[in-house]
Amino acid sequence: MESLLQEWDGETVVIQRDHPTGAWIFIAIHSTKLGPATGGTRMKHYPDQRAALEDALKLAAGMTFKFAVPGFDRGGGKAVISIPEELEPASRSELLMRYGKLVQQLGGAFYTGPDVGTSTADMDIIAETGSPYIFCRTPEKGGAGSSGPLTALGVFTGIQVVCEHVYGNSSLKDRKVLVQGVGSVGKTLIEYLRNAEADVMFSDVAEEIIQQYRDQPGIQYIPAEDVYQTECDVFAPCAFGGVINKETIPQLKCRIVAGGANNQFESPQDAERLRARDILYAPDYVINVGGAMGITGIEAQGWSWEEAEEKVIHTVRYALKRIIEMSEAESITTDEAARRMANEHLSHSTANTDLSMDVKEDF
Ligand code: PHE
Repeated sequence: MESLLQEWDGETVVIQRDHPTGAWIFIAIHSTKLGPATGGTRMKHYPDQRAALEDALKLAAGMTFKFAVPGFDRGGGKAVISIPEELEPASRSELLMRYGKLVQQLGGAFYTGPDVGTSTADMDIIAETGSPYIFCRTPEKGGAGSSGPLTALGVFTGIQVVCEHVYGNSSLKDRKVLVQGVGSVGKTLIEYLRNAEADVMFSDVAEEIIQQYRDQPGIQYIPAEDVYQTECDVFAPCAFGGVINKETIPQLKCRIVAGGANNQFESPQDAERLRARDILYAPDYVINVGGAMGITGIEAQGWSWEEAEEKVIHTVRYALKRIIEMSEAESITTDEAARRMANEHLSHSTANTDLSMDVKEDF
């Protein structure tokens, strides 16, 4: 654990052992350069605490880049609640309340919302002790609800942009899109894709999701073990991180990777590996910014839902187009181009509060 912390380039890590449940809480604040650190709370069981801390550190850095690409005035952070395999509902709620207290003690250095393993109902519980630093409470409790739909909107926009670039046409009609993971982002993404008349395929590991989707018209089920070899135009990872790696890249039969999952690469070299195979990659943190940005805008800056949607579409289109152009002009990967764009905002600390950016075109 010490070496992980030593190698990390972030600002602060808060660690709390939750004795009653045996859980560990890791809050990683990677950067507050552009604003208060903001990121989801991931809650799951890990093989060991090193893996949990590592996840928190990586995900927090991802949030910094996510906000820095468009220059949105938030910093990067993430929390991981590493829980034992079995946790009863009552002790789970108590744990969430103790976690909320910890977030409140940080006094605004860290704002949070849902992530893998937490829901809007969980945000209601956390907010009882963690308010006003908790986003995405249910509408009944005064929150804006799930961030999934806005994330999905950005991912969908990203898919349109890359298709426009690769096929000369942003229409997704009859495009084969494989969505891996039908969670809060995947399910709305599938709706957008079906409305656009795409040829949708999906994969999931949960039996009830498979049953629910497999017999729907215009949608095809792909067993988890076949995902990487399935021929498609767009592969959209919306489940776990690390799915793009040296084992899976040689198997891929797609032209584009564009999905909502955080940290899709297992190692930084995977960007180059994809490029070598001529597969265009829409960097995850560029196209999955919608939920975090949109909800933060709605709850902390008073945007309406429609305004948030507009800004998400605009932000993803603008950033991704520039990134693809930069990667071609300079013969670098899209990941490298996105990092340069983010670093430019970070090194000048130029938070772009109105997000109008310097764009004159009407997308
Ligand atoms: N899970 C979101 C993400 O990874 C985190 C988030 C949602 C943060 C909503 C703030 C508000 O982007």
